[in-house]
Amino acid sequence: MKQTVKTPEAFLGVGYTHDRAGLPLEAVRIPVAQPAAGQVLIRVAASSLNPLEYKLAELNFMGRTPPVGLGLDLAGVVVAVGHGVGDVTVGDAVAALADLDGDGGWVASGGGEGGYALAHRFLTARKPPSLSFLDAAALPMCFLSAFAGLHKAVQTGDTVYVPGGGGGVGHLAVQMAARALGARMVVSSGSTPQSIALARQSGAQHVFDYKHDDIAADIARLTDGRGVDLVFDATYSEQGFVESAKTVRRGGSWIVLGVGPGRTTRLAETHSPVDAILAERGAERVDVNLLRYFSEPGTLDGEARALLRQGMDLAMEWAEQGLVVPHIGRTIDSAVDAINAGLQSLKSGHGVVGKVAVIVDRDLALGTSPGAP
Ligand SMILES: NC(=O)c1ccc[n+]([C@@H]2O[C@H](COP(=O)([O-])OP(=O)(O)OC[C@H]3O[C@@H](n4cnc5c(N)ncnc54)[C@H](OP(=O)(O)O)[C@@H]3O)[C@@H](O)[C@H]2O)c1
Repeated sequence: MKQTVKTPEAFLGVGYTHDRAGLPLEAVRIPVAQPAAGQVLIRVAASSLNPLEYKLAELNFMGRTPPVGLGLDLAGVVVAVGHGVGDVTVGDAVAALADLDGDGGWVASGGGEGGYALAHRFLTARKPPSLSFLDAAALPMCFLSAFAGLHKAVQTGDTVYVPGGGGGVGHLAVQMAARALGARMVVSSGSTPQSIALARQSGAQHVFDYKHDDIAADIARLTDGRGVDLVFDATYSEQGFVESAKTVRRGGSWIVLGVGPGRTTRLAETHSPVDAILAERGAERVDVNLLRYFSEPGTLDGEARALLRQGMDLAMEWAEQGLVVPHIGRTIDSAVDAINAGLQSLKSGHGVVGKVAVIVDRDLALGTSPGAP
């Protein structure tokens, strides 16, 4: 007989309550739906912040009408499974990325009711007992972004440049290239002593200051004038894109996360010289975008699902092995004010190194509940 756990009809989450641009988020009532075929329902222990959560209003809520609950990175315990999910069961400790066009699992006040969120099975992985809920919840969005950009692109012995190796995606990308995928040399950059230190700790042999150094010249010097085999740029910086494009070798790859040069504001398209710089070098531009899978459902085909599922499984495996380990620069309780303050820091680019973890259910996240370390 199928196990069931009693769940409330709704909980008080955090998100957008009506059509308005950006922060602050507010308390929002989120219905707890039962999982459809291929989905699991998770009682959320921990989450983390992602820039997408302050950008979602600008993205027209990915086609939804508010209320929209946020907290898309999830770690917690499965409380119900939908039809066709046989290999994850009620009581399993998991990490997951909530469906990007569904609701997340933050709660408006950490002391009260629990947060619940649905995730597709292919975006859910079993959490190893040695990995904390907080670490597991820091991985899904940023790890999958780095994985989608790098896993097929990096060949053993490659030289790789990851600008912004102190960022959420960047520090995992540096570790992935250097420790899991066999790059020979990883170069990175940052603008503060803390982010530069994190890029270095993550495995970058050379880390430059993008506000003061001429990184293209430094990389040319390090590579006997050739440039790196590939760049993975997840910085969403127009100026940064131009600089990082100049570091790719002839015939190399420039991989960009998101909508790419000339479109980072979403509101207006601007001219970008990046394609011309790449063409001059005969370098390939590769666009990687997780959001596209959800805003254009046709792109979420069997291959994309398999890639995301493999990515979620490897996120857990590599974290357990100590190869790709999230750096939690700050931990906050899930509460409206704390989340708004955290997202504001992320948006301003000041005061966040690595990831901001969110404790959604203190007992579950830090206690001795199933799967806790
Ligand atoms: N579409 C998608 O699939 C997708 C998925 C995930 C994330 N994203 C987007 O990717 C971006 C990064 O996400 P995140 O979580 O890593 O954000 P984050 O933690 O805020 O990191 C941003 C990083 O960019 C660095 N940076 C900014 N300007 C730079 C420049 N000119 N040169 C080099 N580095 C620069 C910052 O370095 P310092 O702090 O040292 O200044 C920081 O390390 C966000 O815009 C996010 O929305 C898109």
